[in-house]
Amino acid sequence: MSNELSATTIQVLDEAGRRRTFAVISHPDAGKSTLTEALALHAHAITSAGAVHGKGGRRGVTSDWMELERDRGISVTSAALQFDHRGHVMNLVDTPGHADFSEDTYRVLAAVDCAIMLVDAAKGLEEQTRKLFAVCRHRGVPVITFINKWDRRGREALALLDDIETHLGITPVPVVWPVGDAGNLRGLVQAENTGQMLRFTKVPAGTHAAIEETLTAEQAVEEEGETWENALMELELVLSSGPGYDQEAFEAGKISPVFFGAALTNIGVKLLLDAVVDLAPAPGPRPLANGGARAVESEFSGLVFKIQANMDPAHRDRIAFVRVCSGVFERGMNVTRAASGRSLTTKYAHTVFGAERTVVDTAYPGDVVGLINAAALRVGDTLYTGKKAEFPPLPAFAPEFFAVARPKDISRSKQFRKGVSQLDEEGVVQVLVSDRRGDQAPVMAAVGPMQFDVVLHRMEHEFSSPITLDHLSYRLARVTDAAGAAELSKARLTDGEVLTRRSDDVLLALFADKWHLNAFQRAKPDIKLEPLIATAE
Ligand code: G4P
Repeated sequence: MSNELSATTIQVLDEAGRRRTFAVISHPDAGKSTLTEALALHAHAITSAGAVHGKGGRRGVTSDWMELERDRGISVTSAALQFDHRGHVMNLVDTPGHADFSEDTYRVLAAVDCAIMLVDAAKGLEEQTRKLFAVCRHRGVPVITFINKWDRRGREALALLDDIETHLGITPVPVVWPVGDAGNLRGLVQAENTGQMLRFTKVPAGTHAAIEETLTAEQAVEEEGETWENALMELELVLSSGPGYDQEAFEAGKISPVFFGAALTNIGVKLLLDAVVDLAPAPGPRPLANGGARAVESEFSGLVFKIQANMDPAHRDRIAFVRVCSGVFERGMNVTRAASGRSLTTKYAHTVFGAERTVVDTAYPGDVVGLINAAALRVGDTLYTGKKAEFPPLPAFAPEFFAVARPKDISRSKQFRKGVSQLDEEGVVQVLVSDRRGDQAPVMAAVGPMQFDVVLHRMEHEFSSPITLDHLSYRLARVTDAAGAAELSKARLTDGEVLTRRSDDVLLALFADKWHLNAFQRAKPDIKLEPLIATAE
């Protein structure tokens, strides 16, 4: 028996050690879909471009699970793509992308061990990238930077690195440096091997992988002349003025290894993929709510990081995405839901990416499985077998959009209340009760406006209580306490701020903008007004 156990332990450690679970964080249009496709193509995970969802049918398949998605040509589905690279199992957890941002985008970061921060060479750090970076920092997720679109005109490499250092407070350490300015990319040089240049030549047809060849330093001098020499000089300058690459500093979030390339023509993508294998941490012990940690070789535990309802309208199903944190997941096993102590069976377990579903029989730490029709599950839930495990709750992120919900038909107020409370529990939106409006007219709070579309759609089609949403002009939420609440209630007529209570009893003060917040804070300097994670400022 003990031999058997240790064989399982060895296997779990071995499988976990081969896993790299990561996400790409970026602002819309920086090239996330293109990069995802390029990574997967590199690893031969998919045979043709198009398996990864793209925008508006531009490239391939938009999911047709929800009318909403079809109508708007966007995907609201988050799942994971698994592929092999150099004997490693890569789990690329998809962040819902595009112009609409939601709490799901943030929550995905609870399921990964590393993030690739994708930066558009011309645009530099953009708003959503910064917000997602803030969440990575908060969660201690190490970040690899990929500066994309170097085949197009853009900013200077040194200026981009400067921005990262100044605005994100993390030291960028180049692992790869571009030979040639943005728009005139000749190739790449690796910091660890400046004796050779990887030259890339674009094929005329455009979107195909560029041709790669390796030049010795002598050939590079001869053929690329000043461009090569400038690249070496710049790289030398950056490396000599910084701390250099250090694995511990990377894992502690102090430095970010930097890569340059062009996802569209596959330039620098393989080096990035290699870096995920070589630098990104494998799944490790996961901290528990009451102290201590669950070791990867312990019995099974997993974290529900996303619920997707109604992916298939014909079946009205609901998938709970679980990141395996420890042990072996086997389809059909009975697991316990930590929050209720109840057990559930996992007969219907799938991997889901784009429109594809594949049945999963076995999964290891780092893998993502989708449990179908596990109605009891909520975002943030811990599942386990054997010794109890409960991971800390997922944080609620700073909402920036607020709207009052009212049933269109007041005779359906029971359905209305049921729907609102279920959407709140599922984390589709945060539900607030304002001291002015009371609980008849709850305030829906969201990180991105698309969360409201999901609410409207589900209230009508799933809970049979169509609603109206009156959008409010607040943009900032601050956590306060009882003393702050008393002051805010008094100040309510001064306009621009309001007090609300979230369903977990956290008191949130809402402000129209920074000006109102600052004015209020100046007038009442002793009041507690703390930002939530990833606020806009
Ligand atoms: P997203 O998922 O982050 O929103 O970005 P997506 O991959 O859809 O890419 C956005 C646009 O940027 C796409 O252009 C894509 O082809 C382009 N792109 C991505 N990577 C690169 C790159 O390395 N080099 C260049 N030159 N372009 C890149 P599009 O939607 O087809 O057309 P348009 O937006 O340019 O009109």
